Amino acid sequence: MSQAQSAQTVCVVIGASHAGSLLAVQVRKEGWQGRIVLISAETHMPYHRPPLSKAVLAGEKEVDAVLLRPALLYSNNDIELRLGEQVTQISRADKTVHLASGETLAYDKLALCTGASPRRLPIAEGLAGVHYLRNADDVAGIRRQMQSGKRAVIVGGGYIGLEVAAVMSQQGLQVSVVEMADKLLQRVASPVISDYFRLLHEQHGVNVLTGVTVETVRAAGDELVVSLHDGAELVADLLVIGIGVLPETGLASAAGLEVADGIVVDAYMGTSDPDIVAAGDCTAFPSARYGRTMRLESVQNALDQARVAAANVCAKPQIYDSLPWFWSDQYDVKLQSAGLRLDHEHEIVRGDPGVIDEKGISVFYLRADRMIAADCVNSAKEFMACKKLIAERLPVNLEALADLSKGPADFVAQS
Ligand code: APR
Repeated sequence: MSQAQSAQTVCVVIGASHAGSLLAVQVRKEGWQGRIVLISAETHMPYHRPPLSKAVLAGEKEVDAVLLRPALLYSNNDIELRLGEQVTQISRADKTVHLASGETLAYDKLALCTGASPRRLPIAEGLAGVHYLRNADDVAGIRRQMQSGKRAVIVGGGYIGLEVAAVMSQQGLQVSVVEMADKLLQRVASPVISDYFRLLHEQHGVNVLTGVTVETVRAAGDELVVSLHDGAELVADLLVIGIGVLPETGLASAAGLEVADGIVVDAYMGTSDPDIVAAGDCTAFPSARYGRTMRLESVQNALDQARVAAANVCAKPQIYDSLPWFWSDQYDVKLQSAGLRLDHEHEIVRGDPGVIDEKGISVFYLRADRMIAADCVNSAKEFMACKKLIAERLPVNLEALADLSKGPADFVAQS
């Protein structure tokens, strides 16, 4: 009898965000007969993370309205959800995890879905009015200070920084974004898309500063004074720092698992210990599609890896090789990206990137006659077509891509 078929066995899942929550459910679906214990350091029921920097920050939705799944779903699947519990140590020798409460749990299979945490800005540490945005409590803290008319400085012009800037400027705050790189969204988007988003934010009154580093942050009464490397100063009531995330690998490395920029897994989401899998933002995985080891920060990656890891736990190995895709909502603009813009040879722009309107734009990244990635702004149909083209490596009708008289159905070359 396999471990999955024995009622005596225990599968422990550490982390209950997108990856962990789904992994627990999938392990049951794949036939695990024993206990499933899902442990979360957070006290909230597992929730969708993307709305935090959008509708939840805007006060349009409470966290309870964006739960990943209803509480009943865990109990119906006999998943023991342990909220507000911190795992402090994994002992691989005796296959146990230790909790901050002093409790020890034995496991037969262990899944690490520990996610990522915001990179800290040491010079702003310990000051009142300085915020990060990763979890529901962070958003509650920002909201308490987010009244119209206040001055906000946002450090980092990536997804988080720009989504926060959009919400805050729409709520009547005076917003400055300070980005170290020359372009906004430089980690994820091409210059055309960066420039488009700069224009979008400037049109909404956001003060966008790029190629700028923060030298010091100091408190002056109730205000924060942010000094930039060129000597300029910004005065703020609150500071939000969104300068990227780091994978949560501490438990894994302390347990002697292989860790690089993430918990190292194979294509089946197995770690260097045969009884431990990992999934989500915390993993460094081998991508056959891109011929390299990579770590991705995305909901798609977390969900698809969780399915593969759960199958592995139940001895039904599958390979993870999904096409990555991402999205961001800012104002009434939706950016959807498919594939990674690695080693592209040329790009084609569809629409006018100098005009911000509901028609949007798309940028397609190509190698020879194949599309390898696409950024689509307010162009859901183009995005869906590109996802298919890229995933299936179909030949592309290059002329159709920039031709607005042609639709996404024309993007595939007819043989
Ligand atoms: N000062 C100013 N900008 C900085 C600094 C700094 N000291 N350090 C880094 N940056 C900039 C980077 O150049 C980058 O443009 O901060 C930006 C961070 O962008 P991302 O890496 O996209 O990270 P972030 O916006 O924090 O989002 C983190 O949350 O939305 C999710 O999964 C999504 O990966 C994303 C994660």
